[in-house]
Amino acid sequence: MGVLHNLISIQDLTRDTIDMILDHARDMEPLAVKRSKVLDGKIMACLFFEPSTRTRLSFESAMLRLGGSVLGFAEAGVSSAGGKGETLADTIRTVERYADVIVIRHPLDGSARVAAEFATCPVVNAGSGAEEHPTQALLDLYSIRRMKGCIDGLTISLCGDLKFGRTVHSLAMALTMYDVDMILAAPKQLRMKPSIIAEMEKAGVRVRQVNHIEDALQDADVVYMTRIQKERFPDIREYNAVRGHFRLRREDLELLKKDAIILHPLPRVDELDPDIDDSPHAKYFEQVEAGVVTRMAILDLILG
Ligand code: NCD
Repeated sequence: MGVLHNLISIQDLTRDTIDMILDHARDMEPLAVKRSKVLDGKIMACLFFEPSTRTRLSFESAMLRLGGSVLGFAEAGVSSAGGKGETLADTIRTVERYADVIVIRHPLDGSARVAAEFATCPVVNAGSGAEEHPTQALLDLYSIRRMKGCIDGLTISLCGDLKFGRTVHSLAMALTMYDVDMILAAPKQLRMKPSIIAEMEKAGVRVRQVNHIEDALQDADVVYMTRIQKERFPDIREYNAVRGHFRLRREDLELLKKDAIILHPLPRVDELDPDIDDSPHAKYFEQVEAGVVTRMAILDLILG
């Protein structure tokens, strides 16, 4: 068995484990280029019940770069769970007989935890409803550390849909383990859950909430933008009331510190103007690269 077994929630990890994963991701940089055979003979199953580009393909790319093999499905409709009503439990009890690790993305909160309860092989949460996306948080931390040299001491602004965005939930919980100041910028209807803010404050994180993106820029070392999660709104009219209101435009960049970085888990809709892509602040495509080495590290720690 590997150093890690399941990876379901950021809250299951300690700061030491997170730092160990980030160190291991750094060690993976040369292997990502050279390729390796350390997971030769191992099989990863990707069960994606929701759309994905980066998460699924970077997990696959990570596994292939380590010499392992991949199988799975990229939408619920082609599986028996989507097409025939098979339960998640039966799907897991089947797939664990085909693979050494299961990577799952599912629209329901708690889905990855349920999958792990039924699986005898390790399970990795690649996004569970609006709740959590722990591997994204790890690659976000890795990006911050690589680009800023450290995490402690920074001021980090989380912006956009802090209510339904699972990436910011996992990232905020991870940052409770670091010495950071946080600015939470969201339209009133999309603020971060009070329970997460309470956790952050309990951990000593200094939290400030603002309603306008402009107020999240001046002091920030890292501006983490997110997409308004249209698919999670119970009523489309509520989405229409907030869409397009939280956007970062070229002229806003003048408010930033000279060395501030802009991250985004992607995909973006209209919250990051394409005009800023060539600005030295814009780091979201470099962040994509961090996804491969971070997931190589996670797979190696689970299967290696
Ligand atoms: C995110 C997700 O699926 O939560 N995407 C990703 O994994 N990079 C963010 C989003 O969809 O907005």
